[in-house]
Amino acid sequence: MASAVPAHVPTERVVDFDLFNPPGVETDYFAAWRTLQGGPGLVWTTANGGHWIATSGELVRSLWADGERLSSECLAVTPGLGEVMRFIPLQQDAPEHGPFRMAVMKGLASRFVVALEPKVRDVARELIEGLRDKGSCEFVADFAEILPLNIFLTLIDVPLADRPALRKLGVQLTRPDGSMTVEQLRDAADDYLRPFIEARMAQPADDLFSRILSEPVMGRAWTFDEAQRMCRNLLFGGLDTVAAMIGMVTLHLARHPEDQRLLREQPELIPAAADELMRRYPTVAVSRNAVVDLEVDGVTVRKGDLVYLPSVLHNLDPACFEAPEVVDFARNLTPVRHTTMGVGAHRCVGAGLARMEVIVFLEEWLGAMPEVTLDPAQPVTMKGGNVGACTALPLVW
Ligand code: HEM
Repeated sequence: MASAVPAHVPTERVVDFDLFNPPGVETDYFAAWRTLQGGPGLVWTTANGGHWIATSGELVRSLWADGERLSSECLAVTPGLGEVMRFIPLQQDAPEHGPFRMAVMKGLASRFVVALEPKVRDVARELIEGLRDKGSCEFVADFAEILPLNIFLTLIDVPLADRPALRKLGVQLTRPDGSMTVEQLRDAADDYLRPFIEARMAQPADDLFSRILSEPVMGRAWTFDEAQRMCRNLLFGGLDTVAAMIGMVTLHLARHPEDQRLLREQPELIPAAADELMRRYPTVAVSRNAVVDLEVDGVTVRKGDLVYLPSVLHNLDPACFEAPEVVDFARNLTPVRHTTMGVGAHRCVGAGLARMEVIVFLEEWLGAMPEVTLDPAQPVTMKGGNVGACTALPLVW
């Protein structure tokens, strides 16, 4: 239901754009968002209680980086979600945010990411082996959703035998079907994580949680509540994002057999290809709350207003990237200018890990699978939301 428009919002900035269901999202998440391009740089949607959306790439990026005037505490447009999740470090602002983020970053430092690579490769290889002889699959359920979950479990050193039990939870995390409330989802994640957190706090080992929780924050140890909020953040932060990315990368490959061939013939291009594909298919959008009144794009954003920042409208803005819809493995992306992994103080702490996962996936998939194409008999479907994704990706080979 459309909400009333606040007095400070000029009429010509008002749209009715539902981020959970943008027009045509079922077939193309990116095109659905791009319907907002070409108008004002900042619009107010009456959907979902009413909030701003930055639509110009430059504004998406500059507001995202503005941690002083915009707070991360709200987490999302969905009312109540932030209060339930209380993620650390995602929902923290300065000065509290820094020390917690630092501890998480140390735990995910590049030397650990490098050390993890063989394990990620094993997980990918095992999943691919299970699929190769089948001739077809529904890639999202059969692969994209399983890979990051298994990698996460490897990261926190969960026994292999426990993995099937987490599968249902993983599906709810990546593709909530409404059968669980947000509170139930959080509780299910916490119930699963609790014994690991307790064990790692009591006796640190060599896994990700142990490494992070061994880092003092502000000169003291983590409390259990903080530890839980951080582990919850890692679980929720690293599953559906990676699943969505691997789905989009594979959709691209299935639509472009020439790129499959190119990367098979020249595997040394894979790291650059991963970077470019991650730029081209951004699926995360974030929410911020204004903590002061600010003048943006000729309008006033009032203190307390919610501002939505979709990475897609930055990465696919022709004013920010030349021919942005074209996948060009030779595109110069150094230093990283796109916002797929965010920008500013909250830029993804898992970016190195996520990039490694995409690279390893591409190497293993292209190395072991024959050429895949879309199944002409079944549609590709997508969904919107804070993380957009393919919901069905039927492949044949
Ligand atoms: C392709 C996969 C991924 C994408 C697209 C992605 C995207 C993002 C984005 C856009 C942000 C910034 C959020 C904001 O500004 O509010 C972020 C933050 C974060 N991500 Fe990722 N992410 C991915 C993978 C991962 C992985 C694998 C992990 C951990 C294992 C992770 C953990 C986090 C955490 C903890 C934060 C919060 C950082 C902070 O607030 O300081 N992400 N991610």
